[in-house]
Formats: sequence, structure tokens, C-alpha cells
Amino acid sequence: MSKPTDTQRMEKIVSLCKRRGFIFQSSEIYGGLNGAWDYGPLGVELKRNLKNYWWRLMVHDRDDVVGMDGAILTHPAVLKASGHVEGFSDPMIDCRTCKAHLRADQLVEKKGVKQCPNCGGRDFTEARQFNLMFQTHVGAAAEESSIAYLRPETAQSIFVQFKNVLDVSRKKLPFGIAQIGKAFRNEINPRNFTFRSREFEQMELEYFCRPEQGMGLLEYWKEERLKFYENIGLERAKLHVLNVPDAERAFYSKGTYDIEYDFPFGRQELEGVAYRTDYDLSQHQKASGKSLEYFDEETKEKIIPHVVEPSAGVDRTVLAMICEAYAEDQAPNDKGEMESRIVLRLHPRMAPMKCAIFPLLKNKEPLVAKAKEIVALLRPHMTVFYDESGAIGRRYRRQDEIGTPFGVTVDFETLGERDPALRETVTLRDRDSMKQERVAIQDLPSILQERIR
Ligand code: GAP
Repeated sequence: MSKPTDTQRMEKIVSLCKRRGFIFQSSEIYGGLNGAWDYGPLGVELKRNLKNYWWRLMVHDRDDVVGMDGAILTHPAVLKASGHVEGFSDPMIDCRTCKAHLRADQLVEKKGVKQCPNCGGRDFTEARQFNLMFQTHVGAAAEESSIAYLRPETAQSIFVQFKNVLDVSRKKLPFGIAQIGKAFRNEINPRNFTFRSREFEQMELEYFCRPEQGMGLLEYWKEERLKFYENIGLERAKLHVLNVPDAERAFYSKGTYDIEYDFPFGRQELEGVAYRTDYDLSQHQKASGKSLEYFDEETKEKIIPHVVEPSAGVDRTVLAMICEAYAEDQAPNDKGEMESRIVLRLHPRMAPMKCAIFPLLKNKEPLVAKAKEIVALLRPHMTVFYDESGAIGRRYRRQDEIGTPFGVTVDFETLGERDPALRETVTLRDRDSMKQERVAIQDLPSILQERIR
């Protein structure tokens, strides 16, 4: 089989996501809302597995990190102090030929002349600054004093609540505050499926420290985050670290790494790990007039902590996992003939459904009853999928396509009809190797739990 081009591969992935219920276009029956996506039954499980794993590693497994969940509606003073009201904008240009609205950096240069990426036109409006924040009004009156914003990042509520969280958690530097939640940006050109959306989720950690610890912690978090991506199944060779050059970094940052991934549409950012110095807390202290200082009991000094921020996108990571997992190979059908199959080789830890359970035949009551017993045995420990319809090969294929790593088949051996030694055993099939092993039903929970953790 010829290797599909990357564009073809991406089209196949988008189509699979819709067909199998991972990701749908938002408001699809009304023509769709550009830059917004809805996650279906399987997409929501995958996304939750990712967020839960991030939370487990970044919060629950550590003594030095606590969590919070801030509001999306944000006081304009917060975003004035952070610099977003003034500076969170992209230069925008319109093509006079095809009327496309473009980010200035999207123009393509051919023989030293800038051209429209849509139509090749060369006639553009002047660049103007376009603020990416969504503005709304709180309460009935739509006036200047009622303006609020949908947060453009989760980070700001962490900075604003720094003192409250410090007081209640009684943590000592270095320590972090983590948050997972929605963020909104009125992107000029949402594109590449969910990669650049107008509504998306972030997983952010603000890790506060002494100034002299900042650069070391920047390295530490870059390494931790790379390990994270490997642990969810992204191949190390497809992950890259970009050391963002001085000229492209925010002026307050002393160092920023972008962790990038080789998507089918090119190498793109998954996460930024930035040493933001004491910029954010200082800005909020100045603007609010409230102290955001930390009293260091060792030195008896008050300081404004510095911060290192690993900031990841949930939607981008979900997309990267699907892109990494998508594969086409050959598998035998019920007659033993090889057929091409689509398989999502998702890491078992991330897979939406962990185990599928099949009675060999749906019209044999003892097989069905035993399969349902196994569903009840496994359900408290993992997501399971019961399927009795169609030939067994087709049932495997359906599970391969959604990335279910394990399949259990209840057959006549299970009932002890052929060999009493095999009573209460089932076949356990591995999605990737397609190997089958015979295991005792009572051992299934421990065997599977070990493999999906
Ligand atoms: N607090 C820092 C911050 O927000 P950022 O680089 O603007 O930094 C962090 O965003 C991460 O959020 C990105 O690496 C990306 O994964 C995700 N992200 C940002 N804009 C996005 C968008 N329009 N659509 C999807 N994800 C986005």
C-alpha cells in the first residue's frame, strides 16, 4: 500500500474522528461555527483520560503542587494589568483580491514579493492590530463599566489568587498552582482541525520559586514535560524542543522553550514552558494595590516570587495522540484472509475504551450470560464495551478503529464444553500484536489493570 501524503492522512483522521464519534464540528446542523468543536462519546473519554493523567502527575503525585479552578469571566482590571487589553493582538491584513482576512505572518513570500496564500493576490490593506480577546457584558447594561472578558489563558486567575492559595495551603517556595480549563481567543484564522481553535482548553502550572531557582527550574520542567508526552504515547523522535530566541520571547521572559510535535500538517507547538520572572505578580500587585509578596522565614525577607510556567493545550495534545495513533495495516478476517484495517494505536492509558467483551455467538444464552458477567466484573475498574453483533472479525475491526487495546471473547471453551481444564477461561486479544492468550476470567481485572495504568 502506498504511503498516503500528509494531507490525505489528515483527511482520513478528521473523517475517522467524525465517523467514530471523537470530534464533531460545533453547531454542524446549522453550517458549523468556525473555530469551535464538540467532542463526542469517545472524544470526551480520551480528553478526560488526558486531563486526569496530567492532574495525577502534576498535582496528586506531588507534595509541592495544589490545584484550583478559576472563573472564565474575568474582570477587565486583571487583563489590563497582565497586558492583554493593550497587547494581546495579532497584526491583521485583508487581501483585496479574494477578501480573505489574514494574519500578517501568513502571507507567503515568492521571489521577494508577499502573496495571499489563498489566491496569490498581491494587493493588501494596511496591517491593523486585532485584539484576540472575546469581550462580553456582565448584567443587563451593555456599557463601558460592564465589560468583562472570557479568559484568554487560565494563568491569570492563578496569579490573582496567589495570596489566597498561599495562605490556605501554607506551601513554601518552590511550589506550584495548577489549573485545567477553557480559554478563548478570537483567532483570525482557526485551522488545522482543532489545532488552532477559538475555544480550547489549557493545562497550566504556575510554579513559584526564588529568583535564583528560575533558570534551573525551566530546564527541570522542560524535561518533565517531555517525559509526560512520551508517557502518553507520543514518539520521542516526533517531539522537538525549540529554544525561543530573545527577539521572539515576551520581554519579561528570561527563557522559553516550545515543545513541538510533528503533526501531519507540519511541526507545531504543543506546549510552552516559560520562565516569566516576577512579571505577573508584580503587575497585579502594582495594579491592585494588594501585597502579593511571600515572606521567607529563613531569610526574614519579603519577596515577589518568580514563576516557571509549563502551559499545555488539551485539544492539541488530543489531536497529537490521534495523529500518532492512526495506522493502516493488514489483519485476518473470519476466513483467515488478510484485509486492510484502520487501527488507532492509542496508549492503553489514554484509550477511551479499555476492553471490549464479545460472546462468540449472540444466540447462545450461556455465552451471552457469561460475557455480561465479565462486563460486570470489569466495569468498576475500567471502561468496557459489550458487543454481540456481527462476525467476530468485524467486531475486532470496530474496536481497532477506536483504539480499544484489549478484546475478550467468550467461547465454548469458556463454558467447559470441550475441555474442562479451560472452563472459566477466555481469549484475551491484544490490539497491536493481534496475539491471543488464554486467561482465567478471575485474573482479568488484575491483568488488565496492570496494562492500562
Ligand atoms: N499562559 C501561557 C499561554 O497561554 P500560549 O503559548 O499562548 O501560552 C499555551 O498557550 C498553550 O495553549 C499552547 O501551547 C497551545 O497548546 C494552547 N493553545 C493556545 N492557543 C490555542 C488555540 N487557538 N487553539 C488551541 N490551543 C491553543
